[in-house]
Amino acid sequence: MKAEVVHSIEDIRRILSGVRRAGYSVGLVPTMGALHAGHGRLIETARRESEFVVASIFVNPTQFDRDEDYSQYPRTLATDLEFCIAHGVDAVFAPPVEEMYPRPQRTVVEVQGVNEHLCGRFRPGHFRGVATVVLKLLNIVQPDRAYFGEKDAQQLAVIRRMVADLNVPTAIVEVPTVREADGLALSSRNGHLSADERLVAPVLRRALQAAEALIAAGATNAEEIRHATLRVFEQHPEVRVEYLEIVDPDEMQPVEQISGPVRVAGAVWVGKTRLIDNVLAAPGSAQAAKG
Ligand code: PAJ
Repeated sequence: MKAEVVHSIEDIRRILSGVRRAGYSVGLVPTMGALHAGHGRLIETARRESEFVVASIFVNPTQFDRDEDYSQYPRTLATDLEFCIAHGVDAVFAPPVEEMYPRPQRTVVEVQGVNEHLCGRFRPGHFRGVATVVLKLLNIVQPDRAYFGEKDAQQLAVIRRMVADLNVPTAIVEVPTVREADGLALSSRNGHLSADERLVAPVLRRALQAAEALIAAGATNAEEIRHATLRVFEQHPEVRVEYLEIVDPDEMQPVEQISGPVRVAGAVWVGKTRLIDNVLAAPGSAQAAKG
């Protein structure tokens, strides 16, 4: 079947009312376009679990904390549409900004606490913009399931909490991070890296793996683990660490003593490009694996 591409809320609602009348389940994959294999994995997962798959492509202005990041964000709609068709998407919803924000948005969603640390500390208003646009998309599409990547773990935690707190009847599905062969997480921003920067970028993944290994081997003092992990960056003074934190996976609050699964998350600047990544680490899992 050929994917339908629509730009208005009215059109996507009309398509979906027919789909629901026919009794099909609906899966939504929200994106900002510049689609890559990470988005591809989300779509494939949706394709397996949902009978009708909608992908949204919308570079949401309200979640950008820097004008430059918004204006330079890659916009590749024609190839994104081909990508969606190739991955079996049934309908693409690609609204212009005026369609999503026809008047000043006076109502916003703020997921307190979960938005406080990690990226929330460094990108003021970012998660308010994300939560608000995702709730708008969930209300427009009313999907049975919506798919999000583990790569943006804090975003996922914010959305999970919003959906739980506001009784949104959509199941949130987490999809593992897709990586390059050298471990770098795929991101629409990787294209901004120069050839030299691209070579050092996987250091973030290596540092997070070092933390994961320490935790698996039984280390429990988060501050000690942080310091040992930050040492991995010493060979690369050109990489600036914005944060490296160990938090609990649901509330995203810093942990001091590790006694259960934790999320180790980091953000670094490589030149003018900001990269994020994270890992879910389980204490003592190295011994458990050996035993
Ligand atoms: P975007 O950055 O386009 O990402 C869309 C979805 O793809 C997110 O759920 C993100 O976590 C997931 N994703 C990105 N890179 C991935 C990778 N390497 N592996 C697996 N999944 C990956 O995140 C957003 O857009 C926006 O904030 C959005 C949720 C659409 C709201 O505007």
